[in-house]
Amino acid sequence: MSVQTLSQMAVEVLTTADGREKAACSRAHAKTWFTARAAGQDIPLGNTAPPMQPARPARPELLDPRDVPRRRPGSEKGRIAMLHAVAHIELNAVDLHWDIIARYTDTEMPIGFYDDWVKSADEESKHFNLISDCLEAMGSHYGDLPAHAGMWRAAEDTADDFMGRLAVVPMVLEARGLDVTPGMIALFTKAGDTAAVEAMQVIYGEEVAHVAFGSKWFHFLCGRHNLDPKDVFHDLVRRYFHGFLKPPFNEEKRAEAGIPPDFYWPLTEIPSPKD
Ligand SMILES: [Fe+2]
Ligand SMILES: [Fe+2]
Repeated sequence: MSVQTLSQMAVEVLTTADGREKAACSRAHAKTWFTARAAGQDIPLGNTAPPMQPARPARPELLDPRDVPRRRPGSEKGRIAMLHAVAHIELNAVDLHWDIIARYTDTEMPIGFYDDWVKSADEESKHFNLISDCLEAMGSHYGDLPAHAGMWRAAEDTADDFMGRLAVVPMVLEARGLDVTPGMIALFTKAGDTAAVEAMQVIYGEEVAHVAFGSKWFHFLCGRHNLDPKDVFHDLVRRYFHGFLKPPFNEEKRAEAGIPPDFYWPLTEIPSPKD
């Protein structure tokens, strides 16, 4: 039997629809990758093209963000809705990390780039499982509630722009996770939901590294092309991210992840060039 290339593994994850099966496939491939790396028998990257859209389960129903019903965060229903939204983000993140592995194979990158994103994809799969476990313990499950339809938009918008993908996905969207997670941990702590608190603490700890991987490889590519990272970051985020960045920012964790304040503060209110 011939060995799968890394991009073939990525496409297998992306084309698996069921959430738990996608997570299991992702974790199995990450294990295969790192076992081979440890044995000094690196798996070739290959160049299998990823689909434009990943396969997704029939449920949840995907709605425009404006049509997703809001629930009071203090109620149990509100907490289930919040966990459901987190599970949806984690499942998207699994696909986003495998997508970046297979999407830009034309650009030669050090093998450490693939190590970082395979590790991140594995962690996102674990996050999806942890949050799904919490939902199931509360009598719900992923797919029970509607979810945001727009989450793959950043991937589509940056499908032809590798640096744009790094700027928008890990350095804007995942960095936003660092800003909002402490508030969610406080909310679930107040409700006495220790399982959800423990899951979110795992997520919070590991997401710092995902943002840091984004910053590391973004700076690497800027250096390769002799570009000013801050200017390029501002240009790409203005081009591909729809809207302004929202304070308050978790400045400490952002700094830990290699994103200084002059990267994000200027994007909070963007003056029109005509002003
Ligand atoms: Fe995550
Ligand atoms: Fe992440």
